[in-house]
Amino acid sequence: MQTLSTHMRKELPSLANTVNGYPVAFLDGPGGYQVPQTVIDAVEDYLINANANVEAAFKTSRKTDQMLKDARCTFADFFNCLSNEVVFGANMTTLNFALAQALMREMTVGDKVLITEIDHEGNRAPWEQLRDRGIIVEEVAVDTETCTLDMDDFERKLSPVTKVVAVNYASNAVGTITDVKKIVEMAHSVGAFSIVDAVHYAAHRPINVREIGTDFLFCSAYKFFGPHIGVMYAKKEVLSKLSPMRVRPQKSYPPDMIETGTLHHEGIAGAAAAVDFVADIGAKFGKESKKSAESNDDTRRNLIVASLLAFYEYEEGLTQYLIRELSNIDGIKIYGPPAGHPRTSTVSFTYNGFTPYEVADYLGKRGLFVWHGDFFATRLVERLGLRDQGGLIRVGIAPYNTREELTRLIDSLNDKAALRTFVSTKG
Ligand SMILES: Cc1ncc(COP(=O)(O)O)c(C=O)c1O
Repeated sequence: MQTLSTHMRKELPSLANTVNGYPVAFLDGPGGYQVPQTVIDAVEDYLINANANVEAAFKTSRKTDQMLKDARCTFADFFNCLSNEVVFGANMTTLNFALAQALMREMTVGDKVLITEIDHEGNRAPWEQLRDRGIIVEEVAVDTETCTLDMDDFERKLSPVTKVVAVNYASNAVGTITDVKKIVEMAHSVGAFSIVDAVHYAAHRPINVREIGTDFLFCSAYKFFGPHIGVMYAKKEVLSKLSPMRVRPQKSYPPDMIETGTLHHEGIAGAAAAVDFVADIGAKFGKESKKSAESNDDTRRNLIVASLLAFYEYEEGLTQYLIRELSNIDGIKIYGPPAGHPRTSTVSFTYNGFTPYEVADYLGKRGLFVWHGDFFATRLVERLGLRDQGGLIRVGIAPYNTREELTRLIDSLNDKAALRTFVSTKG
């Protein structure tokens, strides 16, 4: 019988790549997933058969209009929202700058925005720039022992002048999952807008915007099998009252009102195919997970939920294996939430005596692709006291990764002599 990962591995052509004779183990998932053939085909098909700008009176343009309509429906199932609450953009960061610009118009000097120390810069910088307009920007502290947000600090800093709370669902640096439902509730209790960055979370658990109640939420399709585009959920009744920057002919209602310029059509076609790929996995491997999904029907929404729950189950076993094995290596220190705290399959650590870059370079030559540095979670890495030491080494486990790949990683990390020789010969 085929397992989830063996099925996946057949579908993703890039997994056949090699480096120095080693098969590549793509353990760089939090930086972006590999893509299935169906996504590549969807991009190609769009460019061959539908390549046009929107709303013209000929076939390819009409196909483009339909593709965009369908893609919004696909992402509505991904988020559990309406299709006109789905906004496409270049990437999460660019969309968030546009949103910050729009929300700035709802604020006056002395109003407050709350960001956090655990967030990626993509959910900090757009809000930090509002300081130039007299807005007070405060950070919710991270507890550096547990790599979790300090909720008491959040409660202390939340006040009637807070107009925006921007927080991530899961940390792309250390994997911590945050209780955003609670944060959204608290933000709304003082009348603030809520912004959830689900860019890292989206690959690892189902998103239900209705359940968490947020006003805005972001993901990026390239983090879950798609091309490089960003997608935003924007609550219709909230977005429709805003005045984002736009050009005169642009529509003045959601979702188009915040989508400036021509969209990345082929990327959107690929992104929708990525969600369908996820749903297809749910149909094939989500039987057990479907029991805990929202309903037992084979709707695309339900299959997406079942699939993501199946990913979670698969990744969780490998994550525990990786954490256990890394903990046994002398000199390795793991940074992340304590056992039992909700987390993703992203595991970060330092290795005494070696910089993160040296370790990643050594592993990369052996076909083990891991990230090093701060991954734009610059503030968190700074608060962990690791900025001057080159940050962290980050291993991300995707559903297409295997236990064998992790064993190769552990063996290479255990081979300190080889690592030392590699570093000394490079110097
Ligand atoms: C948690 C998180 N937020 C935001 C971003 C920025 O996303 P984008 O590259 O789509 O701007 C990333 C990218 O790594 C991320 O991991």
